[in-house]
Amino acid sequence: MPQKKKIHLAFLEPEQSIQAEPEETIMSALKSAGVPIKQACTNGVCGVCLTPLLSGEIDYAQRLPHGLNNREKQNGYFLPCIATCKTDIAIGKPKVRLR
Ligand code: FES
Repeated sequence: MPQKKKIHLAFLEPEQSIQAEPEETIMSALKSAGVPIKQACTNGVCGVCLTPLLSGEIDYAQRLPHGLNNREKQNGYFLPCIATCKTDIAIGKPKVRLR
């Protein structure tokens, strides 16, 4: 049985953790928890949802993170709209601010 994963929101004050369903994208888990995050394409192309992964592992499965350049990858950013949690993870503040 796939298990729920914990997403630790290290950028909130106070810090908080939410749960993600096994096949749920991290974007969807953030949205259902009411965490402010911007999305546009929802398929890994635009890069708007760029978020730092602080610990743990994510999974893109068959989806390709076109919206990430090498530099962003090296700096630990990932795209929550196409990623699910492989392990419990901790994330930083999404890069693009909500208007
Ligand atoms: S919303 Fe476009 S890459 Fe995530």
